[in-house]
Amino acid sequence: MEIKQFKYSRDNFGYLVFSGQEALAIDAGAVGPMNQFARENQLKIKFVTNTHLHQDHTCGNPAMLEKTNAQFLDCKTLKAGQVIELAGESVEVIPTPGHTLDCISFAAGDFLVTGDTLFNGTVGNCFSGDLDAFFHSIKRLTAYPAKTKIYSGHDYVEDSMKYARIIEKENPHIDAYLKSYDPEKVVSTLDDEFKVNPYIRFNAPEIQDLLKQKNLPSSTEQERFKAMMEVY
Ligand SMILES: [Fe+2]
Repeated sequence: MEIKQFKYSRDNFGYLVFSGQEALAIDAGAVGPMNQFARENQLKIKFVTNTHLHQDHTCGNPAMLEKTNAQFLDCKTLKAGQVIELAGESVEVIPTPGHTLDCISFAAGDFLVTGDTLFNGTVGNCFSGDLDAFFHSIKRLTAYPAKTKIYSGHDYVEDSMKYARIIEKENPHIDAYLKSYDPEKVVSTLDDEFKVNPYIRFNAPEIQDLLKQKNLPSSTEQERFKAMMEVY
């Protein structure tokens, strides 16, 4: 399974996930470039879907559906473990509520498409208000192998690392993370995220110490995640 990232608007990302000649468009905001890429690579866009229903992610749906014969998969109707087949290979649907309750991530090959749940360097705002759900979603995503690549819904890398440095001034990994940042192809691995992303570092001794110093609840990982989300 392969993936191609498309930047649109200021910092949004959409994706073509493809195998053989068949492709799935996720958050198809970059309608023109996606279709051009599909043409150049003899791909047929079979399905169009979204990571969640925020307008900046769904804005390309009408034009993409008009330009292709693709089937629209409403992310609200996708179920846990459901599989989208592309040329005999599978993209798995992973419900990841938290940012919104309808957030979906997708797993295929060695990568995850994480929408506004997990970004490169940070996590999404908890607009649903359900931090417990968000915690379980983050646990679900971070349980994938360390080499798993993270393709997210926005490029927030530079601001995220400025903020990570405020939280963990001494973190030696932030410089290397920024050095490997390429705005033309924004991707990191879970391993990278465990080194710099303060919101998934709730088991790192540095974050545990920080929470203790601030007298915040820190005895379980769920408490630590919630404390990080509430305070930072
Ligand atoms: Fe969003």
